[in-house]
Amino acid sequence: MDKKLKGIFSGYTGHASEIIPILQDIQDVYGYLPEHALEEVAGFTGVSKTHVYGVATFYAQFRFKPKGRKHIMVCTGTACHVSGAEQVLDALERHLGIGEGDVTEDMEYSLESVGCIGCCSLAPCAMVNDEVVSRIKPSRVSKIFPKKS
Ligand code: FES
Repeated sequence: MDKKLKGIFSGYTGHASEIIPILQDIQDVYGYLPEHALEEVAGFTGVSKTHVYGVATFYAQFRFKPKGRKHIMVCTGTACHVSGAEQVLDALERHLGIGEGDVTEDMEYSLESVGCIGCCSLAPCAMVNDEVVSRIKPSRVSKIFPKKS
């Protein structure tokens, strides 16, 4: 077991009721839930890996892949939805060759959809790391998010 996991587990007793906070801590540290960490959580809490995986997949907050250097969160809240968020998301998926929750092979971009990010007057919009990208047109996606190769 690596040091990071040991550090996380040291704050818990190993009871099965602690699975969710443990998973949250793991995601805070790694940015996602690595496969080996899920196995260690199962061992630590005395439940099956399938159970841990079932808990993790139930909650949308958990990621199973690392984030790219540029993490794109496309807003699909009401204002963005009526302004074409689905078309923006489709265009991004086609352009980057990945689906929601995935990361590009070169680790440059990762993609997910989120609820309202509080910039409704700029719809359709997205957050890229900490910055808002506003009024995204599907036809401009390849210019806004250039691929390296
Ligand atoms: S609905 Fe997209 S920012 Fe509010």
